[in-house]
Amino acid sequence: MALYDSFGRSINYLRLSVTDRCNLRCMYCMPAAGMPSIQHSDVLSYEELLRVAEAAVAIGVEKIRVTGGEPLVRKGIIPFLERLAVIPGLKRLVLTTNGILLPEMAAELRCAGVESLNISLDSFRPDTFSSITRGGDVQQVLKGIIAAEKAGFKLIKINVVVMRGVNDDEVAEFAALTIDKPYRVRFIEYMPTLRDDKWKQRTMAGEELLELLSRRFTLRPVKKENMDGPASYYQIDGAAGMIGVITPVSCHFCGECNRIRVTSSGVAKGCLFSTESRDLKPAIRTGDDQAIRDALRFVVNDKPEHHDIAKQVRHHPVLPMSQVGG
Ligand code: GTP
Ligand code: 5AD
Ligand code: SF4
Repeated sequence: MALYDSFGRSINYLRLSVTDRCNLRCMYCMPAAGMPSIQHSDVLSYEELLRVAEAAVAIGVEKIRVTGGEPLVRKGIIPFLERLAVIPGLKRLVLTTNGILLPEMAAELRCAGVESLNISLDSFRPDTFSSITRGGDVQQVLKGIIAAEKAGFKLIKINVVVMRGVNDDEVAEFAALTIDKPYRVRFIEYMPTLRDDKWKQRTMAGEELLELLSRRFTLRPVKKENMDGPASYYQIDGAAGMIGVITPVSCHFCGECNRIRVTSSGVAKGCLFSTESRDLKPAIRTGDDQAIRDALRFVVNDKPEHHDIAKQVRHHPVLPMSQVGG
């Protein structure tokens, strides 16, 4: 069953956050201190998350991306993923992780039925990585990527949030990684979700980045598939992998947005930056699956045409990405 929003966009993709907790604290995602976690009693149990996922698939969702915070820090995640993977009608189960726990978990994730992984890696330099993530060890993520490859994940996407003056001098090195490795290295425009007054100096537009890379490499555009997210892909001549550009700030992809999101406390949102949301908890906690489906349909219908984050930067609510799942 195909699901469309009021602008005729096909909605087939749910981002499901299973926790707002994380073993890192990236500078663009969480403030250095003082961010309260979602209370345990508000966090949906795996049973409840499963019912949300089933309701979403029943109304037309075909792909679920499990996100966080960091999804792998939640206890019991593997058996939960095993149950998600076998929901009838779900075509693709994928996960976004910071990679820290992949050295020990990659094989189990693959066996649980996760098809592909998006792994965040913003720098190869140990000191830069540690300062962006406030204490993370880059070696652990590099080992995690190798573990994912060994575990048989065919598609590994590496997310690089590009920040001028922080890691922009590493983009050519990241791009060159795709020559030998079959990874998709995606450069993401830094979004001022925490309300950063200096964001314009820091963010680098996708166009500028492509211009920069084109001076060094010959890039050929690659067509994307139906269930793909917002990235536009390019390939260096003869490369094993691809380069992607994700432009949430220049806002090139709202017209083809295919997704809704649900937070770990059961709040459904039609758009990352929307202030409109729908609390699914009452329906979940009264055991009414039809009401969950109706609430999700409402969110799809209410999905805004586009966001205006670049214009509203001083006025939009602070949006810790760890709570919405990126
Ligand atoms: P796939 O195409 O399934 O790989 O999904 P994805 O690239 O959207 O997933 P991922 O979790 O790796 O997110 C990559 C980046 O895109 C992150 O910075 C997200 O915050 C951003 N992003 C994902 N979805 C949206 C969206 O709906 N709107 C905006 N503005 N940014 C998004
Ligand atoms: N701007 C751009 N990307 C972000 N992410 C988290 N916060 C931001 C932000 N403010 C990315 C992470 C991760 C993905 C889920 O979202 O780097 O790869
Ligand atoms: Fe954790 Fe991901 Fe946020 Fe970094 S971006 S603090 S890894 S949830």
